[in-house]
Parts: sequence; C-alpha cells; structure tokens
Amino acid sequence: MATLQQLSTRHVLGIKYLTEADINLIFETAEEFKEVINRPIKKVPSLRDITVANLFFENSTRTRISFELAEKRLSADVVNFSASSSSVKKGETLLDTVNNILSMKVDMVVMRHPAPGAHHFLSRHIDANIINAGDGTHEHPTQALLDSFSMREQIGDLRGKNIAIIGDILHSRVALSNIFCLTKLGANVRVCGPPTLIPKYIKELGVEVSYDIRDTLHWCDVANILRIQLERQDLRYIPSLREYAQYFGVSRELLDELDKPIVIMHPGPINRGVEITSEVADSEHSIILQQVENGVAVRMAVLYLLAAMR
Ligand code: CP
Repeated sequence: MATLQQLSTRHVLGIKYLTEADINLIFETAEEFKEVINRPIKKVPSLRDITVANLFFENSTRTRISFELAEKRLSADVVNFSASSSSVKKGETLLDTVNNILSMKVDMVVMRHPAPGAHHFLSRHIDANIINAGDGTHEHPTQALLDSFSMREQIGDLRGKNIAIIGDILHSRVALSNIFCLTKLGANVRVCGPPTLIPKYIKELGVEVSYDIRDTLHWCDVANILRIQLERQDLRYIPSLREYAQYFGVSRELLDELDKPIVIMHPGPINRGVEITSEVADSEHSIILQQVENGVAVRMAVLYLLAAMR
C-alpha cells in the first residue's frame, strides 16, 4: 500500500492532537485495510521488521486483542505486557518498565494506563512511536476513530449529522475522544445523562447537553451509548442502577416510539439491562459488532501511518 500523505504527528496521544486531515487520512487508509482483512489471506508485509510492544496497565478485552490482531496482520513482531503479572507489582516505575522494554529494540508502544497524561509523559522520554489505548478518564483515541469510521459507513459524511453520546460522560475517555473527533468532523454532538454524570465544563467543547433520553433519541441519527463505569465511581452519582436503567436505559419501547431510522452503538463492555437492554444491543439498529470489526482496520491504519514516518 503506497501512502504519499503523512500524519501531522508521530504519536497518537489523543484526538485533541489530530487534525481533520489526519482523521480523514486514517479513515481512507482503514478502508483499504478493511478490504485486506476480508480477503482469504489477511496478512500484508507493511510492518515487517517493526516490533510493537502492547503495554496494558489496565484491563482490556477488545482493545488489546484488536491491536494485537492489527499488528500481526501487518506482519509486525509483537510483545505483550500485562501489569498484573509484571515487576510493576514489585514497585518498578512506568519509565523504568518502558525503558527496559525499549532496550530490547522496540519501535512502537501501544499503552493503556490508568493515569491521565501517562502517554504525554512517556513521549517526552522515549523515542518509540506511542499510541494511547486509553489513559484513565482522559482519552481513548482509537475507539473514537473506529466509532466515527463506523458511523460514516452507516450514514455517510458526518458533517451536519446529529450524534448523541448517552450515559456516564463524567468518567468516560470514550466520550471525550468522541466529542473531539465528531466536532472536528463537523457533526452536531449532544451528550445525555443524569446531571451528576455530565461534567460542568462540557458545553465549552461545543456540545449540547440534555437530560431527556426520549427527546435525545428523537433528535439523533446515531446514539453512542456508554456504560456506567462502576469501577470509577468513588461517590454515589446515581441512586441505583435500577433507577438509572428506568430513566436513561435505552429500551425497545423507546426505539419503537421513533418514526425514523437510528443507529445504535456501544464501545463495550456492555452492562446489559442497565444502559441498554439486550433487545436493543442485539437489534437490527445495533452495529456494536461492526464497531469491533472496524477496530482492527482502523488500528492497522494508525500503526501503518505512524510506521511510515519512522
Ligand atoms: N472499548 C474498549 O476499550 O473495550 P476494552 O476495555 O475491552 O478494551
């Protein structure tokens, strides 16, 4: 695959630092890789001789497997690191851990870390290309890229389209990265959830706020539904999960009231019966599994474009 254009950055630390041209270049490249991964032979030699380390300091199913598959389909050499079974448990610092791994001649680092900004810190100290696979409640750029890529497949150019992000906005790195990505692409973005789970500053990012799920579903072309992040709720932001499901859960009854098409998305993992019922998650409106499929192509595109700048 020949790419003449280049990204404006040698790391993908967050959508905030990508331009609209970067995002569109990633999408164009991902379209080509989507075609590749649907062939009988899914592998291309683009990252031969490149070694990628996947460093996961927090749990993951989709992102970790998706990056590993993307790297292997590009013929990269891959090493996987999980904090729970590493010397981090013995007190080793992030920088020492990463420098030890890099001294084994690693070219690119994909990292998930609970501390917002951990990737910025690393980018000032190491030479490898860094891809943020989620930093605390801050950003999850490749999730937002695959979300917007999946929306475009369903409804075309996102400029002027109405996109709702529903749920626990306060704790969600997916929400922040989606907001940056969608507003750069010209979409109208609305967040919807209980007031306690919507940050006060959010309107400054150019989004609308609604506390009315019914009105929001009528308004939007796409509803990207986020999970309640139980592991990050050190305070009680909602009275109970049952009450959340009653007032903000997306159910078949709500969708049946709509007299228009709607695309239902969820980045996973899903709390079935809380933010979304199984009937909706598995319905004809849902593209949740297409999102996962697109994740591999989008991550191949990001890896490929960063490797091209080495
Ligand atoms: N969407 C997402 O980031 O899922 P994982 O936590 O399983 O990687």
